[in-house]
Amino acid sequence: MRIKDDFYPTPNGLIKTALDQFHFIQQIERLKVLDIGAGEGVWGKVLRHIHPNKRFEITGSEINSNFNKPIDYDHWVIGDFLEGYFARESFHYIIGNPPFKGVEKSIRLAFKYLRPYGKMLLLLPIHFMHTEIRVPLLTTDHRPKHIYFVNPRPNFTGGVGNRNDYILVEWHGKHSPYLTTCSSLAWDRKWKY
Ligand SMILES: C[S@@+](CC[C@H](N)C(=O)[O-])C[C@H]1O[C@@H](n2cnc3c(N)ncnc32)[C@H](O)[C@@H]1O
Repeated sequence: MRIKDDFYPTPNGLIKTALDQFHFIQQIERLKVLDIGAGEGVWGKVLRHIHPNKRFEITGSEINSNFNKPIDYDHWVIGDFLEGYFARESFHYIIGNPPFKGVEKSIRLAFKYLRPYGKMLLLLPIHFMHTEIRVPLLTTDHRPKHIYFVNPRPNFTGGVGNRNDYILVEWHGKHSPYLTTCSSLAWDRKWKY
């Protein structure tokens, strides 16, 4: 059974390890970050915690109006991400654990909002790759720079029967010239913030 709106909060330790792999550029202007399906705002919270000296402008997109704007976010847009609220925006970084419903459409839309040399880092269930229409997203259309196999397996449902494995996919730019590399991403369940 799926939880309403696919609300599966990401463990802080996993977000920290994920964001530690991500190289944030040094620059004077604020770095614009978009979190798709931001929920309680944990990605933005950990991002600010591990990079206290960087100037971020963080936008959260969230469908559930019960979630209020978290303190770490500069902008909070309630609504369906697929409606295209960010058509006039362009982000340096797009991050998060997006809802699985409509995920392929969400990723294609996110690429429209990504700056040409922007980066995107998304946590996805590995079965994302098991559907033919999604394969081009990871091969020809938007080839990732790197895929991390997340280890240990995060338990989003709290039950013992959770057998879903997850990947973190990192894209650099809209049309990456790289060949995709892969590695394991070991994270610490005990890390809390
Ligand atoms: C897998 S949860 C992740 C929550 C949070 N980012 C985290 O990592 O803990 C996905 C989130 O996306 C939200 N969501 C679902 N469908 C959405 C949509 N169409 N547009 C925007 N947010 C959506 C859900 O309410 C939920 O908070």
